[in-house]
Amino acid sequence: MSETEITIDSAMPELPIPIYTAVRMGTMRSRDGDLFEIKVGLDDSLVIQLKEKSLDVTDVEIQNNTSDRERFGEGSYQEWYEKGRVPFALIDAAGNLAALAWFGPKPLGRKSLKHLTAVERAQDERQLDAGDWHTIVYRAYNPYRGKGLMKAFVKFAMDSYRAAYPHSKIWAGIYAENPASRGLVERLGFKECADLSDASSHETVMVWEEQ
Ligand SMILES: CC(C)(COP(=O)(O)OP(=O)(O)OC[C@H]1O[C@@H](n2cnc3c(N)ncnc32)[C@H](O)[C@@H]1OP(=O)(O)O)[C@@H](O)C(=O)NCCC(=O)NCCS
Repeated sequence: MSETEITIDSAMPELPIPIYTAVRMGTMRSRDGDLFEIKVGLDDSLVIQLKEKSLDVTDVEIQNNTSDRERFGEGSYQEWYEKGRVPFALIDAAGNLAALAWFGPKPLGRKSLKHLTAVERAQDERQLDAGDWHTIVYRAYNPYRGKGLMKAFVKFAMDSYRAAYPHSKIWAGIYAENPASRGLVERLGFKECADLSDASSHETVMVWEEQ
């Protein structure tokens, strides 16, 4: 089995990318030899797939570990995008969304949608002062979950995002017992922020430390 290989054909485009536009940045070849395209931004077809995948009740991990049902399945992609979110997509040879990683300004430790109180939910996130903090979020979709695609893909996405925001400090929130999520970010150099984590409710805040 060979190593995952990324070939870059374009630098990070200027932000913001117009909504419903996907810009090809390169390709990734997996350890199994499968070829994927990497794009930044999502076009109509990818947004439709994201909505479907977020509503998929057979994907128990998406339903239990994420707020995507509410965020994308029932909620407005446009409203989400307008919070300054920058999605990166990994797309298989048939055009299927294989994985997603996104970034955007968010105060360190702010909880995910379904864990916010009614008062916190009512706040307009764009008005909150995030300082240099930006969140990272990631999904792998079946049949590509657990196949070793994510470390290389997420690292590429994070490096590309940080090219646009060189001073950004990146953090990840894990809101369920989720060893795959934790394992992934640990391998990317994130460390737990103990002050903001709560082991009893499985809420973990992980902060990226530049190597
Ligand atoms: C979290 C998620 C994105 C990880 O992707 P994945 O496809 O399972 O992960 P990969 O197979 O690419 O593995 C990524 C790295 O994490 C490690 N890892 C994976 N599962 C692990 C586990 N259970 N325990 C420890 N480490 C693990 C792998 O060893 C790998 O590192 P390596 O490339 O150095 O070997 C994926 O499981 C997912 O989408 N889950 C559902 C949605 C979700 O929970 N998102 C995160 C919410 S916080």
